[in-house]
Amino acid sequence: MSVVKHRILDEIALIEVSNPPVNAISAAVRIGLLETIEELSLDEKILAIVITAPERTFLAGADIKEFGKKIDAPILGNICDKIESLNKIVVASLHGTPLGGGLEVAMSAHYRIAAPNTKVGLPEVLLGILPGAGGTQRLPRLCGVSMALDMMLTGKHVPAKKALDAGIIDVISKNNSTIDNGIEYAKKLIKDGFKPRPTSQMENKISDTQEISNSLIKIKETASKKYKNLFSPHAIIKSVEEGLKLNFPEAISNERELFEECIQSPQRQGLIHSFFAERANTKVPELKDGKPIELKKIGIIGGGTMGTGISMAAMNAGLDVIMIEQNDEAIEKAKTKINATYDRNVKLNRINNEQKLEIMSMFSATTDFNELKDRDLIIEAVFENMDIKKEVFSKLNQICRKNCILATNTSYLNVNEIATVVDDPSRVIGLHFFSPANIMKLLEIVVAEKTSTDTVASAFDLAKKMRKVPVRSGVCDGFIGNRILSKYLVSTYHMVEDGASPFHVDKVIRDFGCAMGIFQVIDLAGGDIGWATRKRKAPFRHKDDRYVQIPDRVCERGWFGQKTSKGYYLYGENVDFLTPNPEIEVICEQERKRAGITPKKFDDKEILDKYIAAMVYEGTKILSEQIALKPSDIDVVFTNGYGFPKWRGGPMKYADMIGLDKILKNIQKYSEEDPRFWSPPKLLEDLVKQNKNFDSLN
Ligand code: CAA
Repeated sequence: MSVVKHRILDEIALIEVSNPPVNAISAAVRIGLLETIEELSLDEKILAIVITAPERTFLAGADIKEFGKKIDAPILGNICDKIESLNKIVVASLHGTPLGGGLEVAMSAHYRIAAPNTKVGLPEVLLGILPGAGGTQRLPRLCGVSMALDMMLTGKHVPAKKALDAGIIDVISKNNSTIDNGIEYAKKLIKDGFKPRPTSQMENKISDTQEISNSLIKIKETASKKYKNLFSPHAIIKSVEEGLKLNFPEAISNERELFEECIQSPQRQGLIHSFFAERANTKVPELKDGKPIELKKIGIIGGGTMGTGISMAAMNAGLDVIMIEQNDEAIEKAKTKINATYDRNVKLNRINNEQKLEIMSMFSATTDFNELKDRDLIIEAVFENMDIKKEVFSKLNQICRKNCILATNTSYLNVNEIATVVDDPSRVIGLHFFSPANIMKLLEIVVAEKTSTDTVASAFDLAKKMRKVPVRSGVCDGFIGNRILSKYLVSTYHMVEDGASPFHVDKVIRDFGCAMGIFQVIDLAGGDIGWATRKRKAPFRHKDDRYVQIPDRVCERGWFGQKTSKGYYLYGENVDFLTPNPEIEVICEQERKRAGITPKKFDDKEILDKYIAAMVYEGTKILSEQIALKPSDIDVVFTNGYGFPKWRGGPMKYADMIGLDKILKNIQKYSEEDPRFWSPPKLLEDLVKQNKNFDSLN
């Protein structure tokens, strides 16, 4: 069946596109649209054409899967130009999410009516490209350069009312019935004598060249900092700026050239990989049969940083929260913290005071575990100690309903062991939130040996309610994220003991595009956390394992980072951001001497190579052990929880892009010096032998 159908209703032709799930503009849609428009253009009885896509949404953009492939079909830009040049009125009747190419089709129509539920946008920047079907030229003509650039540089979705006020759409219909509204509107336009109105000829919003050049200066200045590492935002600005000086067809071909440059950029590959990876993360075996329980009432054990953050994430999702703390003082402290966060949100106009009070009414705190009797889900966020956790779970086992899900927010400990103290371990699961839990998107869902499919389905449902990005992980020390982090942390300590400066390492990581350097992260999280983990693991360390003592020397001095105003960096009111603690280099030198190491120089490439190799090394092991189900899940963990740049795709995608053979070669080289730490993983060797990449395992 054709994806583009049309019918004639007197003097109006109705085009209906149907390409589920989101009416992406695939080659078939483009062919169908062009053929239909060409056919209708010849029919003189037709006075108006209405373009609709009546199912879930109007066209949500180009078919992203096609990018980078060679496809012999008309390009969307040419179809848009053809639509605009028709000598009949063309109406786009919008609903849902007309995004990217979908909005570009709409903007090439002569008039736009939108259902109240419509949100429009040009989110191409999030995929590392620019709107390549006339969007960079038509949107400024409709809403002005500033707003158009704001939309294109952020990719934000603009609701119907705002789009109407800005001139992007002409009218909002009363209801969501997109076919009827489109036809009715077309009839009215014909009756009232309206004529085709090509957007390309609308120049009043781009005619004040002085005002535009002033705002372009500001936009470019911000972009040079904000999008420092990115390619497509600058291409978008360039297309708009240069387009203003060209005639329309020239501006369109300029846009096309810039679009092609974006398509060739590795950032496009990385970002599109991230787009699909963040949708593949919910494709896990347990969700095939698992049925989520209804989650309304949550219990949180512990009111520290994690407990308060998770409480707020739950309250923001409309869930009723009871927090358990040990005494009134701790309760007061947690309440004050939560209250202060919402006060700040009110101050920043993110919510109003009424909304704050409504959210706060969902929160209560007590020292009495018995209050948890009616809860659907408990999330334990107490101190990272197996005995304490087991004690909590034993209590919950006695008090909670038999079908209440019991989750631990542990970041390292064995969830299977915690589950042993519960009569029915099928309802025990790990929910590893990241700090601040009310903000950070990532949620590792740790499936223990006996966790039921219903419990897993409920955890994914919770993630959806909280708008988190969930990733399924098996049980191991540190799960996906922290286990990989441990590996590259230790490998970094090796490098520092061998002669690299911690501040040089951090700079290389930041220049690569990561949000923070490794030592900045330690300072943020608190050096004492890693110190406690090292002490916990000490009894299990093999006598031949290389152990670098530099971080212990730092912690022994009470330098835990931001919370003590001193760590690898210095902190304080009058201290510049990223001021190195000068005593760190002294400690490093002393430790090198103590270990009998003659320091060597590291260049940027050596540092980066080792950082990436360590991530990929542990990522590969995690895959072989089926802790992560697929490489793209590891990517999602790192791009959403550890500041790895999305435009690099994630560590596993990045490895694919630079070549697994190169990574393996590096690991082989490192293993000559330290075979215990770097013995090449078999899966990586197999992939290289078979000339395959990680993507082949996705
Ligand atoms: N191409 C191909 N597949 C797409 C797609 C697209 N543009 N948009 C969504 N999909 C797929 C998703 O991968 C997902 O597939 P699976 O079910 O197999 O995982 C399915 O459609 C549903 O998507 P979501 O789960 O994201 O559904 P949602 O309801 O939560 O969100 C949406 C819907 C808002 C449209 C969201 O999917 C989205 O933002 N899509 C991308 C929109 C976009 O970026 N458009 C611009 C494309 S580039 C362009 O148009 C360039 C140009 O100039 C021509």
